[in-house]
Amino acid sequence: MKPFAPLIAGLVWLLTETAPAPAAGPVPALPEWLPPPAGWERLSPGKAELGRRLFYDTRLSATGDVSCATCHRQDRAFSDPRGVSAGAFGDRLRRNAPSLANVAYRPVLLWANPDVRRLEDQLLRPLFGADPPEMGMNGREDQLRRLFRRDETYRRMFDAAFGAGGDRLEQMAVAMAEFQRTLISARSAYDRFRAGDRQAILPAARAGADLFFSERLQCFQCHGGLHFTDTHRDRRLAFDEAAFHNTGLGDPDDPGLAAVTGRPEDRGRFRTPSLRNVAVTAPYMHDGSVETLRGVIELYAAGGRPGGGPDRSSLVPGFEISENEIRHLTAFLESLTDEAFLTDPAYANPFPARK
Ligand code: HEC
Ligand code: HEC
Repeated sequence: MKPFAPLIAGLVWLLTETAPAPAAGPVPALPEWLPPPAGWERLSPGKAELGRRLFYDTRLSATGDVSCATCHRQDRAFSDPRGVSAGAFGDRLRRNAPSLANVAYRPVLLWANPDVRRLEDQLLRPLFGADPPEMGMNGREDQLRRLFRRDETYRRMFDAAFGAGGDRLEQMAVAMAEFQRTLISARSAYDRFRAGDRQAILPAARAGADLFFSERLQCFQCHGGLHFTDTHRDRRLAFDEAAFHNTGLGDPDDPGLAAVTGRPEDRGRFRTPSLRNVAVTAPYMHDGSVETLRGVIELYAAGGRPGGGPDRSSLVPGFEISENEIRHLTAFLESLTDEAFLTDPAYANPFPARK
């Protein structure tokens, strides 16, 4: 074998020297300032790639025309431009679909539920829930198993990611959760600014940032932290932060956190949404009742809606704000848009476009 050794070494050299740069894989590189979310090191590219396919597959709905991506659109940072989303059979859901950007950092999922914590559990609701039906697959579990068995691409991908055996439905949930954990958004103009590039955002946005972090406006009290929310899991810390607040919307149809806890003081409390990509996630709030960022700012300035309820947070007392300041604050919020995330092919629909 000896004479071949130099040949093999040469081949290895040739391969490493001429191999093209690795294609953008399903697991993105994190910027240095961002601590990885839980489970990051164990993230499986094969499972995430399978999860992406499942996320976009309309065959996972009873009517064949709804996928997760119907209500979680990439160009909207995986949120829904429809005020409240509609299920496969046309039922209106109660709430607006939140952005899935950086969902791996959330210790609790959904707008107002401290008990739903795992992505693997959450996705069973849209798939199999019936109140109201979203994808309407309850009772159609065998249809899914059949699809995963008969479709050649699925068969190959499930085998590669999980081996030949096991419960394909359970594996489906794991794969979709893995895909969602790869949805990292941290490349906004404001991120570049915060990392030291003073020119990355315009003076108006810089003035807006000063307002956002001011004692007068108090936005940072709830929308602080790396992802502009106080519901955040940082594994360098011993405790998860999970916060629900009443911002004075006074929505009579939705008790918020109280629906789960039964405590009257939790009425109207909702989780603080991350403000990353907020310029593209309109309409706003749990019920999609505010159309524009200006509308949101004016609502905070007024201290909530008239009759917004006595339980409104003391951090939303209302404030004076000038036209110029509204423009500055809006410019700051717009600087949180991560264009690369909205167009990253690694997160795009893997199915060929329908003619
Ligand atoms: C018919 C629209 C619709 C479909 C289809 C849908 N979702 Fe959602 N999704 C929503 C709405 C509405 C919420 C917010 C519900 C709430 O908080 O009560 C939500 C919330 C979520 C959340 C919580 C995000 C957070 O920040 O806490 C995740 C994760 C999620 N969906 C993933 C999925 C996955 C995966 C699928 C496919 C299996 C899916 N969704 C299908 C409408 C939809
Ligand atoms: C007391 C905590 C708190 C403070 C202070 C606060 N927010 Fe919020 N913010 C929330 C919560 C909670 C929601 C969701 C409310 C709901 O849907 O019922 C929210 C929603 C939003 C939304 C809509 C996001 C979306 O995806 O729907 C924007 C934009 C926003 N806040 C910006 C601001 C700005 C700007 C300020 C400062 C003027 C501010 N917030 C102050 C807690 C707070």
